[in-house]
Amino acid sequence: MIAPGWAIEGVGLTRRFGGFAALDGVSIAVPPGEIRGLIGPNGAGKSTLMDVLSGRAQSWSGTVRLGGVDISRLTAVERRRAGLARSFQRTNIFPDLGIGEQIRLAAATAERDNSEEVMAELGLAALADRRAADVSYGDQRRLDLALALVGRPRVLLLDEPAAGLSMSESLTLAGILRDLAGRWGVTVLLVEHDMDVIFSICSRVTVLHLGKILADGTPDEIRRVPEVVTAYLGSTVE
Ligand SMILES: Nc1ncnc2c1ncn2[C@@H]1O[C@H](COP(=O)(O)OP(=O)(O)OP(=O)(O)O)[C@@H](O)[C@H]1O
Ligand SMILES: [Mg+2]
Repeated sequence: MIAPGWAIEGVGLTRRFGGFAALDGVSIAVPPGEIRGLIGPNGAGKSTLMDVLSGRAQSWSGTVRLGGVDISRLTAVERRRAGLARSFQRTNIFPDLGIGEQIRLAAATAERDNSEEVMAELGLAALADRRAADVSYGDQRRLDLALALVGRPRVLLLDEPAAGLSMSESLTLAGILRDLAGRWGVTVLLVEHDMDVIFSICSRVTVLHLGKILADGTPDEIRRVPEVVTAYLGSTVE
């Protein structure tokens, strides 16, 4: 179904590894300005969905649209230029390069160079001359987010941006993200295991399980779905 008005849309997305479908006919649509949570147990297919949407997957079927435009055949770099940015589950930073240097390098390939603005927003300006390897893990995660935000993308796919952070650091990062997304009008699809982070900043949540959409709704609706509790908490508790 073509639905103009979605910022990012995946229709009937399938990705197989051998006979195993990591994504099995997944359709997802996020309206402009929304921060959508994407949750599910380990191996549910969350990162695979990010790969397919961002153009990092080799073989897959279905359709990906950005702002109503079919971008299925575009490469990852072309999708980035079209306004679709992502961060990775493991940070994508260069340990030996300076923080400011990396942000400016990322900006060189973006439509507009807003590297100073991004550094200021993420509190990295004072660290601009430090090597990424020499700053704290929390600062490295903020650098990762900064690299994705360079050029003010229209849509941001974030794969566990708060992984490894403490609860208070995670909520701080979530607050920065919500504030920036609101002011810049960025649409966000956020993969996150921490339900406190998800429920604190997402207006809707999509639940993926075994390569399929299990549920989709507001945080309150999602909290009340028994299968969600079983499927999701089953992998994170004990
Ligand atoms: N390159 C690959 N080759 C084979 N199987 C893969 C490959 N990448 C992912 N898979 C499988 O696809 C399934 C989905 O993996 P994916 O990484 O998308 O899950 P996820 O929801 O991101 O999990 P996690 O919460 O652990 O990050 C898993 O069963 C995984 O083992
Ligand atoms: Mg993953």
